[in-house]
Amino acid sequence: MLEIAIRAAREAGQVLAALYARPHEIHVKGLRDILTEADLAAEQAAIGVIRAGCPGALIVSEETHTQWDVRSEQPMWFVDPLDGTTNFARGLPMFSVSVGLAVKGQVQCGAVYDPLLDRLYYAERGQGAYLNNQRLAVSDRAKLDECLILLDWPRHQATREQSAKFLHRLAPQVDAVRSRGSAALGLCHVAEGSADVYYQYTLGPWDVAAGIVIVEEAGGKVTNLHGQPYSLDQPGWLATNGLVHQAIIEAGPYQ
Ligand code: IPD
Ligand code: CA
Ligand code: CA
Repeated sequence: MLEIAIRAAREAGQVLAALYARPHEIHVKGLRDILTEADLAAEQAAIGVIRAGCPGALIVSEETHTQWDVRSEQPMWFVDPLDGTTNFARGLPMFSVSVGLAVKGQVQCGAVYDPLLDRLYYAERGQGAYLNNQRLAVSDRAKLDECLILLDWPRHQATREQSAKFLHRLAPQVDAVRSRGSAALGLCHVAEGSADVYYQYTLGPWDVAAGIVIVEEAGGKVTNLHGQPYSLDQPGWLATNGLVHQAIIEAGPYQ
């Protein structure tokens, strides 16, 4: 299954790389939310690989999914064919493909591919996390004032303001704050130890499925924003190196 995830992420990533420098067709999906021709082309590539390798599988892909239920017993593939569409459309070279497989709500394996840097992050439960062929481990920073925090921004006004308020409290306590515009890459940066914390108030399961297992297999911790065990259908996500998880919760994402 990991091989299928990797192949799907790579093939979709190649589609994105080929289309990146060309003019794009842009459709507005909703508030601060767009879709390009590349999202759809990459999605076809990823789904084609999964269907060929795993016929009959349930595929929950961002642009084409139907109803799904996290409590279902059926294995589910979660696909984000282009994570970072706004970056892609505006020529910011930060985007990825994310492909993860969950069984009974637990992610078993996943791959995140950054096609411009040819960086493939992947993990299988119990087998460690890797970037290309290199084993990943989260950072060992234990104090907030040593931490680099990554976050991305919710689209809707109320959650965006909530996220801004939390950042207002957190930023003075930490070393650095960054926002990259690809949730999947944000999680991978925690896994590789180049960031210590990632949070976002409103993500879909396709944004996080692969990243969850990559962070956990690198030794990190993933929960909801209250610090409780996650469910793939929740909106708010916190991933850390584990050492600063409690300190982030105490800083009060929901105060
Ligand atoms: C978005 C990105 C962004 C996050 C949004 C996501 P998309 O994914 O991951 O960083 O803040 O919530 O929806 O729309 O580019 O696939
Ligand atoms: Ca996404
Ligand atoms: Ca997407």
